[in-house]
Amino acid sequence: MLAIKNMSACYGESRVIRSLDLDVPDKKVVCLIGRNGVGKSTTLKSIMGLVRTPEGSIELAGTEMRKMAPYDRVRLGIGYVPQGRDIFPQMTVQENLELGLKAAGSRERVPDYIYDLFPILPPFAKRNGGDLSGGQQQQLAIARALVLKPKILILDEPTEGIQPSVIEDIGEAVKRVNRELGITVLIVEQYLDFVLGISDFIYIMEKGEIIRQGETGSLSADEITRIMTN
Ligand SMILES: Nc1ncnc2c1ncn2[C@@H]1O[C@H](COP(=O)(O)OP(=O)(O)O)[C@@H](O)[C@H]1O
Ligand SMILES: [Mg+2]
Repeated sequence: MLAIKNMSACYGESRVIRSLDLDVPDKKVVCLIGRNGVGKSTTLKSIMGLVRTPEGSIELAGTEMRKMAPYDRVRLGIGYVPQGRDIFPQMTVQENLELGLKAAGSRERVPDYIYDLFPILPPFAKRNGGDLSGGQQQQLAIARALVLKPKILILDEPTEGIQPSVIEDIGEAVKRVNRELGITVLIVEQYLDFVLGISDFIYIMEKGEIIRQGETGSLSADEITRIMTN
C-alpha cells in the first residue's frame, strides 16, 4: 500500500532522515517506534509532503507522491493525525468532523461508521472540541481523519498524555478501523504495550535510520526495550 524507498528528509540543510526504506502492506497495521528525536514524526511528515524529501521514492498504491503537494496526497487516500492532535478547540465536535469532509470538497455528511467507532462523540456533538478531555480529543482527531474513508490511516503518538483506560479504547477503535473498514494503518508510538497489542509489523528507528524490523511476534518486548533504552 505504502512503499518508501531510499528516502531522505531535510530541515533546511540539516538531513534528519537518510536512505529510509519502509513498507506498509495493504490491510496491515505497522508501527514505527524509537526514542525521542530519532526522526519518527519527520518520517510521517515526509509521507505527507510537509518536509523536504530530496531523494528517494514514496509510493501510495503504486502512485509516486514524492513531488506532490500535501493536499493531493490526502486526496489520494491518506488520513493523517499529527502529534498533539490538532483539533479546533473553538469549533464543535460536529463542525470538526464536517471540516474533514469540506477540506476535500465533499458534500456528504459524516458517515455513521464514525459514530459507531467512537461512541463517545455523538453525546458531545454540539460541545466545543476544547471542552473534551485529551483522550476524547484524540478520538475526535482520528475520527476526522477517517470521514473520507482513506486507504491508509497515519497516527503520530496517539497515546501521548492519555490515561490508560482511554488508550484501550483507542487501540480497539484502531483495530476495528483496520478489520472492519479494511483500512491500512501506520502508527508512530513509544508506548510499547499499545504497539504489541495492535501491530502486525514493527520498525525500530534510531538517528534517522531503521535499525531493526520484524513481524510483531518475532521481536520480544525485552529486546525492543533494550534497543529503545540503550
Ligand atoms: N521543524 C524543524 N526544524 C529543524 N529541525 C527539526 C524540526 N523538527 C524536528 N527537527 C529535528 O529533527 C530530528 C527528528 O525530529 P522528529 O522527527 O520530531 O523526532 P521524533 O518524532 O522521533 O521524536 C530532531 O533532531 C529534531 O530536533
Ligand atoms: Mg515525534
